[in-house]
Amino acid sequence: MTQMTGNERLRFYAMSVQSHRQTFARDVAHGLAAPQKCLPPKYFYDERGSQLYEQICNLPEYYPYRSERDIFIAHASEMHAEIESLALVEFGSGSATKTRHLLAVYERAGRPFTYCPVDISSTMLRETAAELLRAYRHVTVHALHADFTGRPDVVRRLPLEKKALVFFGSSLGNFTREESAVFLRRTAAIMGPEDVFLLGIDLKKSPEILVPAYDDAQGVTAAFNLNVLHRMNRELGGQFDVRTFEHVALYNDEQGRIEMHLRSRQAQQVPIAGIEQVVSFAAGETIHTENSYKYTVDDVRELGHHANLVLRRTWFDPQRYFLLALFRPL
Ligand code: AVJ
Repeated sequence: MTQMTGNERLRFYAMSVQSHRQTFARDVAHGLAAPQKCLPPKYFYDERGSQLYEQICNLPEYYPYRSERDIFIAHASEMHAEIESLALVEFGSGSATKTRHLLAVYERAGRPFTYCPVDISSTMLRETAAELLRAYRHVTVHALHADFTGRPDVVRRLPLEKKALVFFGSSLGNFTREESAVFLRRTAAIMGPEDVFLLGIDLKKSPEILVPAYDDAQGVTAAFNLNVLHRMNRELGGQFDVRTFEHVALYNDEQGRIEMHLRSRQAQQVPIAGIEQVVSFAAGETIHTENSYKYTVDDVRELGHHANLVLRRTWFDPQRYFLLALFRPL
């Protein structure tokens, strides 16, 4: 379904996104029945969760947001030079805060350009599109409402010739290595010879820096993690007593990832009306709520290589905490 709006600089495309309540119930029923209980991290981001994530980005311990932003501030012009003739297609655009550093360079160049935000939140998409049209005279926005997880080829829906596909914010870090490999292969499969893929990814570093980034002194990340229990209470009629759970963040060295868990302080039974189940917890048992994989530059090159993508340029922040990687098809 394609909706044309009155404004010629804005087009809104929509892929059918499954009713949220239904998939949430299904994912919770499935995740809490597993031997290691787990929940998909995408459920962190309700209104409260999105606010908390914004607060996380301002925490002294949470370097990834600032590191990536600093790369944009220092290198947006160089990035633009590589992609100026291409439409910019962003997976998981959100409020597009960091992307604006790049869009501003397109705008200053004074030529028409196309930005295609792809997001699962249609509200966010509409707000962001409206703001960008106000901020930039030269932009045309083709917004795509879609769940691109596991299938980046949803962007085929957009009538584009040459494109720069971009995936920022180390969101790829939430995927397992296998899911990441599939995502890159499927991305490569929809790229023409002149297209590029630009990836923002958090790099491996000492656990002394990593762990506090996910377990901050003010407890904002704890609140962010625990919010998913509040959400199950609100949206699925759950009866979690949130005080009986605690936030856990650890670095799994073997897997090269930060893991976040919610640990039950006591043995308990929690009814969840919306899934017609009572979930049992042993004392100390955890719900695994997030993986945040960390990569080396060689890992990233390798990941591209398996997808027939060649790593052509890299940009780093001064501390080398974060990487922006530009790939071209083989
Ligand atoms: C949005 C996936 C990049 O993994 O660092 C922040 C989310 N989780 N603190 C990350 C997150 C806990 C974040 N990403």
